[in-house]
Amino acid sequence: MKPRVLLTHPLLPEAMDYLASQVDLELATEEMILPREELLARIEDKQGLLCFLTDAIDREVMDRAPKLKIISNCAVGVNNIDLKDAWSRGLLVTNTPDVLTEATADLTLALILATTRRLVEADRFCREGRFRGWKIDLFLGLELSGKTLGLIGFGRIGRAVARRARAFNLRIIYQDPKRLEASLEKELGVEFRSLDDLLREADIISIHASLTPESHHLISAERLKLMKKTAVLVNVARGPIVDEKALVEALKTGQLWGAGLDVYENEPAIEPELPKLDNVVLLPHTGSATRETRQKMCFMAVENLLQGLRGERPSHLVEPVEKTSVL
Ligand code: GLV
Repeated sequence: MKPRVLLTHPLLPEAMDYLASQVDLELATEEMILPREELLARIEDKQGLLCFLTDAIDREVMDRAPKLKIISNCAVGVNNIDLKDAWSRGLLVTNTPDVLTEATADLTLALILATTRRLVEADRFCREGRFRGWKIDLFLGLELSGKTLGLIGFGRIGRAVARRARAFNLRIIYQDPKRLEASLEKELGVEFRSLDDLLREADIISIHASLTPESHHLISAERLKLMKKTAVLVNVARGPIVDEKALVEALKTGQLWGAGLDVYENEPAIEPELPKLDNVVLLPHTGSATRETRQKMCFMAVENLLQGLRGERPSHLVEPVEKTSVL
């Protein structure tokens, strides 16, 4: 008999067809959000769960699933899963690292450029028929060359951003719970800073850390005050790392020059003041959204799930480590 699997939302078609050919598959919903009662009702008899970052997989869900062996998350971040609880039950948890690194780093640079060069505002201006001719001070932005980029979280994605940033002649400083060897820092052309020093020194601050209890509201009202008034904050990691209300305040009062956001504190809700501000660029959590990357993520999530269900060690197992800091 094929193992029973709950897929919370559709995968891209080829991966979903492949999964359906391998297991007894139940698709929970075609909608963006799966109502909790639906998840709780449908998980009961399943051996496998393939879920997404929008699904909260906590103790209550696991209590309902006595036959569950594996939770395969189609994302690199796993903050939507109560890992400690899953591990204490002997459940396997997997994610989709590496394949989304380059796409997410590309989007980070896109957000940095869109924010510093005011691309969205300028596009709107053209569409509204307001472009009447070249003008010396039209949409003045911030120059990247020679500035300092501060990376919070220096794992795969942070490093991929650093590689791109060098081509823009940015100086790179980083903060991470694990400092690199001096020789590696030299090779990568990066310098380590404490978080507060990084915030004081950087012109562009970009977040690439995992969401954990330690990183929740890491960028608080107090820390926003450490940043330069000409600084730009970019977040493509997880919304709750930034105190979103405090960020709105900082953007409104000129405490901060601008922000580029792909993620929000209470996704999919966005702090209502944010869309009213011209100095922010807002994206709907599309960091990894290229056709190629999403296809790879889907197949990786399926493969992880099938390996776990066959009793093999999945290729991308999330395991307890001292400190999971980076994406
Ligand atoms: C996206 O946010 C992911 O964690 O993969």
